[in-house]
Amino acid sequence: TATDNPETADVLVVGSGIAGCSAALAAARAGAEVLLLTKAERPDDASTDWAQGGISTTRGDPAALADDIIAASDDTADPDAVDVLVETADEAVEDVLIDTLGIEFDETAAGELDYTREAAHSERRILHVDAATGTHILRPFLNHVDDHERIEVRQDTAALELITHEGRVHGVVSDEKATGTPIYAGTTILATGGIGALYGQSTNPDDATGDGIAMAALAGADVADLEFVQFHPTAYAGKEPFLLSEALRGEGALLRNAHGERFMPDYHPDAELGPRDVVARAVETEREATGEVVLDVSPLEFGDEFPGIAQKCRDRGIDGNEIPVAPCEHFLCGGVAVDDRGRTSLDRLYAVGECARTGVHGANRLASTSLLEGLVWGLRAGEDAAGAEPEVVEAPDLRNRDPDLPERFAAEKFARLQRTMDEFLGLERDPGELARAGAVLRRLKGEVDAYIRTRTARDLYELRNACVVALLIARAAGENPESVGCHSVVEDEPAPEQTAND
Ligand code: SIN
Repeated sequence: TATDNPETADVLVVGSGIAGCSAALAAARAGAEVLLLTKAERPDDASTDWAQGGISTTRGDPAALADDIIAASDDTADPDAVDVLVETADEAVEDVLIDTLGIEFDETAAGELDYTREAAHSERRILHVDAATGTHILRPFLNHVDDHERIEVRQDTAALELITHEGRVHGVVSDEKATGTPIYAGTTILATGGIGALYGQSTNPDDATGDGIAMAALAGADVADLEFVQFHPTAYAGKEPFLLSEALRGEGALLRNAHGERFMPDYHPDAELGPRDVVARAVETEREATGEVVLDVSPLEFGDEFPGIAQKCRDRGIDGNEIPVAPCEHFLCGGVAVDDRGRTSLDRLYAVGECARTGVHGANRLASTSLLEGLVWGLRAGEDAAGAEPEVVEAPDLRNRDPDLPERFAAEKFARLQRTMDEFLGLERDPGELARAGAVLRRLKGEVDAYIRTRTARDLYELRNACVVALLIARAAGENPESVGCHSVVEDEPAPEQTAND
């Protein structure tokens, strides 16, 4: 409903990772009054804060980075989008991260920047701070945007619905008041991150529920490449899984099966440094065949080179050099389809960061390009988004709804959703089973929709968003019969027919 005194902003950014902060900064630099909404209560509610390995630069050779991105993607990345990334990468890192935020990336003993390497990179070109790069970028970035005179940051506030009118997006309805608060904006930039919460185990924070993708798709925006869910090959395979950065393998750590054999040379010429999708499937195959896979960190000075990860291992009682690992959901390569300025197919709606599909990643993302993509597209979208006036139109009416939800409703439904995604939409997809997954997910979404008509609880909206994105992933997987990158199509052998003698 249009109220008498509605809240407005020139640019409304939803999400507080590197992409959202970059978009807010660029829009404010272009003169816009920016409101950044985030459902996060703490910095580590954003995936950026969890990013370990680092942020890729080109080290002066954009063509070489472009080649590696395209090769890792199984030749499916969009070369034009990749060119945008590599041509603007170094300037963005220098301007925003080093000059504006003053981030001190690790240096060598000689005082030079210490570039590390990760899988499928042909060069040492990744800037990092220990293996906790995301935290070291995000915290100063949040402080900077929070201090900016034209940016207001509002925490613990979720966007529930987009406000749309005649194909144009005019802002969001937030959950600031339990009955929904419309916030009108000249332009709206979604930077809501990934979808880790759709899977039982993920390297993302729990609130990565695909909100931006779902809201955009429900409003009619185009989405693309959603079948390409990337699994990181090396998460700790125990209670409280956490990421064991690719930088460990980049610096020499090896993968061994339960017989102590190094197996990656049998799977890819670059062995442990093969593309992420190849290594993830090999790890799973060897786990199934031999019972366990470990990351052998004995070739490294583990404690000295990776103090943060070494500490996490000690916290879980691992003191030796062999860390049990398993693949784990990590990143969605697809998302809301956008152009080279982050513009979606809906007027005045942008998407940046993990929730967007820029074309840079194709079917499989190269390590340490996600922070970079968030930075580059965030800046481009923020600049482009400045200049439009907010317009007050009719907003979705959430008054008269109950803000509460029966206890455990969301938790139980999330558990069912995660079991379905783990079983049918994990590392391998069996086309014969996808129809079953779709049926389970549609039923689940129906149950959630019945509640959402009368309630506004944030958990319920997160669940709705997760269901919407899960269904889109299942549909995209079903429509792509070809194995490529992260999407591996494997038909199970039909069970032998039972005979009367069995
Ligand atoms: C890692 O540190 O292995 C993650 C890097 C990435 O996902 O880009």
